Amino acid sequence: MKIVEKTQKMKTLSAKIESMGQSIGLVPTMGFLHEGHLTLVRASLKKADVTVVSIFVNPTQFEPGEDLKDYPRDLVQDSSKLEREGVDYLFAPSVREMYPEGYKTYVEVHELQERMCGLSRPGHFRGVCTAVLKLFNIVQPDMAFFGQKDAQQAAILKRMVKDLNLDIEMNILPIVRSADGLALSSRNAYLEGESRTSALFLFESLKMAALEIDKGEREPSVLIKKMKELILSKPQARVDYIEIVDRESLVSLKRLTGHILITVAVYIGKVRLIDNAIIKVKE
Ligand code: PAJ
Repeated sequence: MKIVEKTQKMKTLSAKIESMGQSIGLVPTMGFLHEGHLTLVRASLKKADVTVVSIFVNPTQFEPGEDLKDYPRDLVQDSSKLEREGVDYLFAPSVREMYPEGYKTYVEVHELQERMCGLSRPGHFRGVCTAVLKLFNIVQPDMAFFGQKDAQQAAILKRMVKDLNLDIEMNILPIVRSADGLALSSRNAYLEGESRTSALFLFESLKMAALEIDKGEREPSVLIKKMKELILSKPQARVDYIEIVDRESLVSLKRLTGHILITVAVYIGKVRLIDNAIIKVKE
């Protein structure tokens, strides 16, 4: 596996790959890789001729006072994991390389970026879209791979690709969980002891909601109230939001029909965790 740090070098390599008629798959990440990331990597290896994984802890998607400085990093471990998987290129630019002095351009996907996570993290998706569009322009992928774990991010990036006429096939892969149900996340590294146990109730609350829907509940507010009660019964838990929305427009649903997206964001102490489930409602 080749490690590339310079944007110009990556662009040249991508152009060469393209000129040989090979397809490029891109897996954008912020590193500290786990099985969730590696599932995306494997999907790309299977589908694309050449796989590029990017690792970039993107400062523009962190709010002031968030965990940018403390975000877990381990480039040595990460690159050996990617090497083992058979990845072709690891693109790991510096902050200066991505945002050189004088940088002024940002990408926004209105409305979708203002809901759910966007309420407590107002500049977050603007940062995500900016970094991802830059990665798309540098790596020139034919296809890109993202996780359903970040459902709002996936919906926003799909919208951006459509709105900006990018010829990139967006692949969104299911959430990978640990054996006890916790959605894998680099931020789980912050959870210790009791807070790790409390975190399990994100998934429990989603399972409970699915069960209630199965039993015939169709009133979103009733489901949300029950989920809230379950989560708040756990030590250190504070609900940021629980929403039941259309999975593309992210608009809150008044009635449950078709495929719905239930999303949860919870603080366990100081750690903010998100989880979600897509549920098919029987008519
Ligand atoms: P990061 O949190 O590192 O996640 C990188 C990709 O892995 C995202 O598409 C995310 O949805 C996916 N992922 C994370 N945990 C997962 C899990 N348990 N199951 C399935 N997929 C999972 O998301 C970002 O980085 C950044 O915002 C980024 C898109 C790289 C832009 O900076």
